[in-house]
Amino acid sequence: MESQMDYWTARALLEWQVEAGADEAIGDTPVDRYALDAKAPPVVAKPEAEAPSHVAVEVDPVGDAERAAQSAASLEELAAAMQSYPHCELRRGARNFVFCDGRADARVMIVGEAPGRDEDLEGRPFVGRAGQLLDKMLAAIDLSRQAQDAGQGVYITNVLPWRPPSNRTPEQAEIDMMVPFVRRHVALAKPEVLILMGNTPCQALLGKTGITRMRGGWVEVDGIPTMPMFHPAYLLRQAAAKREAWADLLSLRARLNG
Ligand code: URA
Repeated sequence: MESQMDYWTARALLEWQVEAGADEAIGDTPVDRYALDAKAPPVVAKPEAEAPSHVAVEVDPVGDAERAAQSAASLEELAAAMQSYPHCELRRGARNFVFCDGRADARVMIVGEAPGRDEDLEGRPFVGRAGQLLDKMLAAIDLSRQAQDAGQGVYITNVLPWRPPSNRTPEQAEIDMMVPFVRRHVALAKPEVLILMGNTPCQALLGKTGITRMRGGWVEVDGIPTMPMFHPAYLLRQAAAKREAWADLLSLRARLNG
């Protein structure tokens, strides 16, 4: 009996597979392996002489990222260089490349971790629940990514421009290959102040984690005053930590006021 699957069921099944990480169709038509002849043809070993000679190809993801990032002379060129960077497997499972939001000429630049589900769908950083809390936190000290004026504006990006599957924490190798790009991003945007949201940008730009100890303190990244802060997603889970986040926002405001 032939049963027909409706469009929405088929689409839901496909989305489920993409979420699970199956993002590549191997053949044009499905293979019914039960129907294949049980007696597979014997495998004939190739004589040694016919085996292809082994050519070692050196792959250097961090070096390639370094060269690609340094060759970008503008934010547009940087975005294009990242989009054509081949070594980060996350790109294959993501729906969108998420580069930035807000004003590139803002005094404050915020670096988060990686897009989540909402950001992946929309192609903009911090648009989900954590992003909405971030907007409220910024508004409390008179900053906004929609500001008409660079003085009240913020510029927002992430260490990773592609969503990790199921929002898992980025792996060290993924962070390492994106560091040259995020450093170049900061160099091109030239903010007066940098805010690192959570452990991943601290790992990328300061080479260490421990946000509970580091938050609220001023350090430097390439000569730019930088403050690590709790990630808004953490504040959604740990409301008590909003006290410290408020103190950090006031410290940011005081620095901007000179
Ligand atoms: N969390 C992040 O770190 N970045 C986003 O863009 C969204 C959630």
